[in-house]
Amino acid sequence: MCSANTIAENQKNNHFANADRVWLFAYGSLIYKVDFPYLERKPAYIQHYSRRFWQGSHDHRGTPDAPGRVVTLIQEQEARCGGMAYCITPEVFTHLDHREKNGYLRVKLAVHFSPHEQLEGLVYIAPEHNSAFLGAAPIAQIAKQIAFSSGPSGRNSDYVLQLASALGELEVQDEHVFAVADQVRAYLDCEP
Ligand code: SIN
Repeated sequence: MCSANTIAENQKNNHFANADRVWLFAYGSLIYKVDFPYLERKPAYIQHYSRRFWQGSHDHRGTPDAPGRVVTLIQEQEARCGGMAYCITPEVFTHLDHREKNGYLRVKLAVHFSPHEQLEGLVYIAPEHNSAFLGAAPIAQIAKQIAFSSGPSGRNSDYVLQLASALGELEVQDEHVFAVADQVRAYLDCEP
């Protein structure tokens, strides 16, 4: 398992090169850890993707030798993924590219605010071919890895519990996230 670095690739990305505003769709820690400036934010969703704890975290919630697990988006025809959209200026991408450098690429996608209101926005997705991708595993195994991982940004369990709580506040149903969060809580309750 190894870390990735997508900064150079993302900086070559010229989606919205001439735009003075871009809508960023956030579905993981970018929902609740907002360490970047934004002009406006609104709950939003994207179609045909599921949120999964299938991406390794070697730099934030784990280490190169003991990676944690964080979310990425996986294509699934019938799926819908709820989150938060932020209207940002393009300068903010320097910070975001650094924060999301372990495998995430900027992808242009339709961001929906309602069934009648959508626009083109950007999403950071860690694709299956990136070197930090861990892939599917049983929920109990994912939760156990998360319960015992931590890194420079803190405990991996906090990432999951804060995400579950932020999704609850947004009234977003996500069975995968809630199932992992429940199992992580069960592991933490057993801690001495
Ligand atoms: C996101 O939150 O949109 C990307 C994944 C993450 O940073 O957790």
